[in-house]
Amino acid sequence: MKKLEVELKPCDGFFNVKKYDEKLEQASECADKLFNGTGRGSDFTGWVNLTLRDDETQMKKIIDTADRLRDKSDCMINIGIGGSYLGTKAVSDFVFPRSEGPEILYAGNSISGTDMHGLIEKIENKDVSLCVVSKSGTTTEPAIAFRILEGWMERKYGSKARERIVGITDARKGAVKSLCDEKGYDSFVIPDDIGGRYSVLTPVGLVPLAASGIDIRELMKGAADQAIVSRDLPNDGTMYAAMRNVLLDEGRTTEILAVYEEALRFMAEWWKQLFGESEGKEGRGIFPASVVFSADLHSMGQYIQEGIRNIFETVIHIEKPPFDMLIPDTGSNEDGLAYLAGKTMNYVNETAMRATMNAHRAGGVPNILINIEDRSSYSLGRLIYFFEFSCAVSGYLLGVNPFDQPGVEAYKKEMFRMLGKPGY
Ligand code: PA5
Repeated sequence: MKKLEVELKPCDGFFNVKKYDEKLEQASECADKLFNGTGRGSDFTGWVNLTLRDDETQMKKIIDTADRLRDKSDCMINIGIGGSYLGTKAVSDFVFPRSEGPEILYAGNSISGTDMHGLIEKIENKDVSLCVVSKSGTTTEPAIAFRILEGWMERKYGSKARERIVGITDARKGAVKSLCDEKGYDSFVIPDDIGGRYSVLTPVGLVPLAASGIDIRELMKGAADQAIVSRDLPNDGTMYAAMRNVLLDEGRTTEILAVYEEALRFMAEWWKQLFGESEGKEGRGIFPASVVFSADLHSMGQYIQEGIRNIFETVIHIEKPPFDMLIPDTGSNEDGLAYLAGKTMNYVNETAMRATMNAHRAGGVPNILINIEDRSSYSLGRLIYFFEFSCAVSGYLLGVNPFDQPGVEAYKKEMFRMLGKPGY
């Protein structure tokens, strides 16, 4: 099995070992609750065993639909917001190698008219397919985007637009479901027992990702292998959950996820939603932030080194990045870089990571290190399940329901009232 490993040594000196051992025991109890379905929100834990079910009929339908869309599209527009797009973008940006496929573009994750204008300009001379993802089928942002883009598709392709549109939504209710039924779009179901931020390994992510050339069987295999190792307690997932909560008890209220490749930016965005929406409630939770180093060392580095000491960092380390570049020997030292000639960029990037961890620890910031082998679908599948599992366990340790998001409604109600939506 390819590597996924949590290293807690860079937290040494920042926590009480006895308290950590106690928390780790509690984390195992929380994991048992998750597996037995006896914890809070247990009717939203369908993702726990999802990847272990060998649903070949569903997999075949996903791949057939994806192949059909892929053959006729230069790009696929994924319409969705929050859990209905972040996981897809995270995987799509992260995975290498992959086969050729249409570029995935995104819509419905903002209400910016300028963004929509830019997208329409971009697709003007392209062959396009649409994948609209909304579990509730009533979310305003994707609904507006779909109304505009469906009209664009109908003007461009006439009655054949139908063959290029797929809906991924609830089994029974919501506007996307009725539209699919009425207009005959292909559709896939988001299982009732899986919430948005835990849904990337359902058709929500699998359909657009398969269309774009990602090996979704390997993604599912990685997640399934991680689901199996997560049963053995304690494990890397419970260690991560326990350490986060021990650090929180010590006053570390912000966790910064640090990545060292631009391609991981959206993995961090997905992670922020997963942990933020799962834990931030009832006046509790660790605030999830993220940085892309080394770029952000030149903007956020100062604060992390010397600002308020209520932070800890979790660093994602890819052991074998897909490419490397040699730093050339130019025969001169005008730029002061002769000492690096013949070394590679990955060597320097890795050294920057180790040096930054040392410096931040010396500045009073504990670090957790997550080592993963590479950027394959398989490794990312493992990482996705690892985070979902540790997030659920961590939420139970905190004493919250990690599967609801009651606070998200507040802005919607006020916006609807101000927009004059009937009934608000
Ligand atoms: O995790 C969640 O539940 C949310 O982020 C939702 O995915 C998001 O609000 C979009 O909801 P829907 O898929 O119902 O349009």
